[in-house]
Amino acid sequence: MPAASTHFRYEELAGFITELIRRGTLVPGSRVPSLREISRQRRTSVTTALHAYRLLEDRGVIEARPQSGYYVAQASRDIRPPTTSRPPARSIDIAVPAVMLKLLEHAADPKLVPLGCAIPSPQLLASGRLDRCLARAARVNGAKLNIYTPPRGHLALRREIARRALRWGQALSPDDVLVTCGCTEALSLALRAVTKPGDTVAIESPTYFGLLQVLQSLGLKALELPTDARQGIAIDALRSACEARRIAACVLASSFSNPLGCTLAEARKLEVLALLARHRVPLIEDDIYGDIGFGATERPTPFMALDRHGITLHCSSFSKTLAPGYRVGWLAAGERFMPRVIEAKVASTLCSPVLPQLALAEFLSSGGYDHHLRRIRRVFQDTLHRMVRAIEESFPEGTRVTQPEGGFVLWVELPRPADTRQLFAQALERGICFAPGVVFSASGRHANCLRLSGGYGWSPRLDRGLRALGAMARSAD
Ligand SMILES: Cc1ncc(COP(=O)(O)O)c(C=O)c1O
Repeated sequence: MPAASTHFRYEELAGFITELIRRGTLVPGSRVPSLREISRQRRTSVTTALHAYRLLEDRGVIEARPQSGYYVAQASRDIRPPTTSRPPARSIDIAVPAVMLKLLEHAADPKLVPLGCAIPSPQLLASGRLDRCLARAARVNGAKLNIYTPPRGHLALRREIARRALRWGQALSPDDVLVTCGCTEALSLALRAVTKPGDTVAIESPTYFGLLQVLQSLGLKALELPTDARQGIAIDALRSACEARRIAACVLASSFSNPLGCTLAEARKLEVLALLARHRVPLIEDDIYGDIGFGATERPTPFMALDRHGITLHCSSFSKTLAPGYRVGWLAAGERFMPRVIEAKVASTLCSPVLPQLALAEFLSSGGYDHHLRRIRRVFQDTLHRMVRAIEESFPEGTRVTQPEGGFVLWVELPRPADTRQLFAQALERGICFAPGVVFSASGRHANCLRLSGGYGWSPRLDRGLRALGAMARSAD
C-alpha cells in the first residue's frame, strides 16, 4: 500500500488518464504515455505512476502488453449514454406501479445480490464510530435527552450542517436549517410548504421513485421534463411548461441525480433559477448525493448557494454517506419559507429523535467526515467503473449506460422492446435484485431501463450477479 501522501496523487493521476480517454484524446487501442513520460509530465514519482496504472488496469481501463507498455483497453463495444427521455408535455396524475412495492420488499434482502438497494453497505459506512458517538451521547446526557426538541431540531447538529455549507461559500445560520427524518421528510415538508392538493410539480424524468410516492400522497400532479444523462433537464421544456400553466414547484437534483447520475452545469443552474424566479416558482433541490463526487473539485455548488432570488428549499440527508438507519436529514430555507416548513414539521412529526442528531453532530465536529467521504468516493468510483465494464461485456448489443461522475448508481437502457419488469421477476428467482425502470416514471415509462446500485462496492458476487443479469437480458433479447 503506498504512503498516505502518494495515495491521493496516484488517484489523481488515474483520474487524469481516465479523463483523457473519456474526452477521446486517448482512444481505445492507443498507447498510454510510458511510466517515465507521465511521471515527468505530471511531476510525480515513477512509483506513483505505477500505482495509478495498476489501478487503471484493475478497473479494465488500460492493459499492459509485455515488452510494449500500456494501452487503452479496447472497449468490447462502444457503449453509449442513454437516450434523452421524452415524457408527455402535460400534467399527469401519478400512477405508482405495483412492482414498486415488490422492489421495496426485496431491495434490502441480504440474500440477494445487492444491485437494487441505493444505499451504501453498512461495512462502508463509519458505523462503528457513529455507534460510539450515539452511546456516548446517551451516557453523557442520560435522561436529559429524553425530550422534545424545538421543531427545527437540536442546535448542535444544525450548527454543524450550517458550518459545512461554508465550504460552498454559503453563510447559512443554524436557524435556516430544520432537521428532518431523512431527505424523504425534507422533500415532503418542502412540498407541503409551497403546494396544495391538485397542483402541478415539474420534475425530472426519470426521477427518484420515493419523490413520486410523496407527490402522489400529497395529491399533486407531475409534469415530467425531458432529461438527459449528461445535460440534465431540457430548460426549454421547463420554460414552455411555466408559460403554459401554473407550476406550483419544481423539484430537481443538485448533483449526481438518482437514477441518471447527472449534474446541471453551474451556468444552467443559474438559467433555471432565473427562469423559475421570473415565474415565481419555488425550487426544491435534492442534494442527497452532492458529497459523493469523483472530481478534483470538492463538490458541485448546490442551487441554494447560487440563488439570488430566495426561491430555493434545499433538502438533503446523511443516508447516502453515513447513516441511512439514523433517519436524519435536513431542509434549509430562508425566512420566506421557513415558517410554513415549521408548521408542516409540527404536523408531520413534531420534532425528530434527539440522540441520532447528537451522535451525528459529534461525528461531524470531531473531524474525520471528509476522510470518510474520500474513502467511499474512491470505492464508488472504482465500483461503477468495473460495473460499466461488466455491462459492456455481458449485456445485449445496443445496451446504453450512464457513466456518472458521482453517486453510486447506473442507469441502463436495454434495446427495445425489453421489459425490465419481467427481467426483475426472473432475476429475483436467481437471487439478484435491481430496480426496474418503470418505478422512476410518473407515466409508466422507461420499461426497457433499469437502475443498478454499486453501493455495496465491487465483489466477485456482484460481478457474477451482474454478468448473470446480462445473460438473462441477452436471452430475452
Ligand atoms: C434522490 C434521493 N432523494 C431522497 C432519498 C431518500 O433519502 P432518505 O433515506 O434520507 O429519506 C433517496 C434515497 O434513495 C434518493 O435517492
